[in-house]
Amino acid sequence: MLLKPDSKFRTTWDVIVIGVMIVAAIQVPLSLVIDIKFNAVFLCIYITYFLVFSSDIYVQFNTGFYRAGKLVTSKREIAVRYFKGWFLIDFLTAIPFELIALSLPVYFNTEMPDTIEQGIKYLNPRIIRLFGLIRLAHMGQLFSFMRVWQHANKFNPSILRMSFSLFWLGMIAHWIALGWIALGKTDPALSAHVNYLRAFYWTSTTLTTIGYGDITPSTSWQMVYTIFVQLLGAGMFGYMIGNIASLLANVDISRTQFQERLEKLSNFMRSRSIPGNLQERIRAYHYYLWDTRRGSDEEEVLNQLPHNLRVEVALVLNSEIIQKVPLFQGAGEQLIRQIVLNLKPLLVLPGDIIFRKGEIGNEMYFISKGSVEIIDETSGDVYATIADGQFFGEIALLMSSPRTATVRAKDYCDLYVLDQITFERILEHYPEFAAQIRTMAELRNRTK
Ligand code: CMP
Repeated sequence: MLLKPDSKFRTTWDVIVIGVMIVAAIQVPLSLVIDIKFNAVFLCIYITYFLVFSSDIYVQFNTGFYRAGKLVTSKREIAVRYFKGWFLIDFLTAIPFELIALSLPVYFNTEMPDTIEQGIKYLNPRIIRLFGLIRLAHMGQLFSFMRVWQHANKFNPSILRMSFSLFWLGMIAHWIALGWIALGKTDPALSAHVNYLRAFYWTSTTLTTIGYGDITPSTSWQMVYTIFVQLLGAGMFGYMIGNIASLLANVDISRTQFQERLEKLSNFMRSRSIPGNLQERIRAYHYYLWDTRRGSDEEEVLNQLPHNLRVEVALVLNSEIIQKVPLFQGAGEQLIRQIVLNLKPLLVLPGDIIFRKGEIGNEMYFISKGSVEIIDETSGDVYATIADGQFFGEIALLMSSPRTATVRAKDYCDLYVLDQITFERILEHYPEFAAQIRTMAELRNRTK
């Protein structure tokens, strides 16, 4: 059996391991510090740790990895890589220290032995359980998962990063609170929960540098501990606040960039005294662009990709127009690829003149969304209104003549433009397609 690192099973398995890892990071130190009566639930938890962490080693040995984009499947290479990486931590994590401690006769006698002989005879199980803390090192693996998830689809990376920061903050506070309990004396009059709550409260007031001072160190060790936590708190608090501020600013980075762009544009238009109604139309254009495309510039994104990826992305982006235009329905894949790669999106506002009768035409247009009117500006006649899935501007290209009519947008229109060079190349190579367009052009030319 060999798993791919990005297979569904492996991803699901990772989520399970992470879940158990987090539970262990919370529960293992907690039950070392706070005495909670042992019961069957603990037994189940410890058995689960053992099963999951030891199976994880097996899974790791049987998962390939990518090197320079190529999947490495050699078991030897996988093992060497694993041994150099997390194997030791994973191995130590899988040792069931608690189950070993449980099997010792003195498990339920938690008192320290009085003499050295007693100690040797009855090794205190707490000491064995202490080794269970090695599992906290396992948490280091979370960083690599976070890196992968940060750029996985579906999630906003900034929100994800903020959640990770808060998660780590909570985790560290939990460990600090437990350290505080371990170094002091708990109040026997209070329940374990309340003692933990008090310790967590002390941690949060100290870490956030608020320090009410209502809970203070009761032993010298706690005092030394407090000094360290205060220093840590001052640094961590500053770091977190700075981080949160920058994350908040980045949560919606495209919106921020869009607003910046619009502000710059408004300043420019004001300083160059662009007429008010033109300013309004330019702003309306940008808002529409934002509403429909989240402000991203398709061409810019596509240009950053290598050719093969660009074709794939263009096919996805333009799939709607391909489905809408009846002319494309019978076309082969080759033709569709040719067209799609060369389509340029264009947005027009209601009332905009796309071109005028008599102008030289260098391109034809496909309507993805919206409608346009074919008009005669002098007489005011509307020859036709065409909408989603139809095209215009082909006559000038086919007949090498000036535009035969004026075309005006009736509402917001998402158009796709095909340039003359591509158009001619396509006609040359795909005669059936050319014939269809020619028939349509002749028909239109006659009905004017
Ligand atoms: P062209 O001459 O390049 O520019 C004007 C366009 O309007 C023309 O190409 C056709 O695509 C389109 N057109 C002209 N007449 C009609 C019509 N009767 N019905 C639909 N579209 C037309």
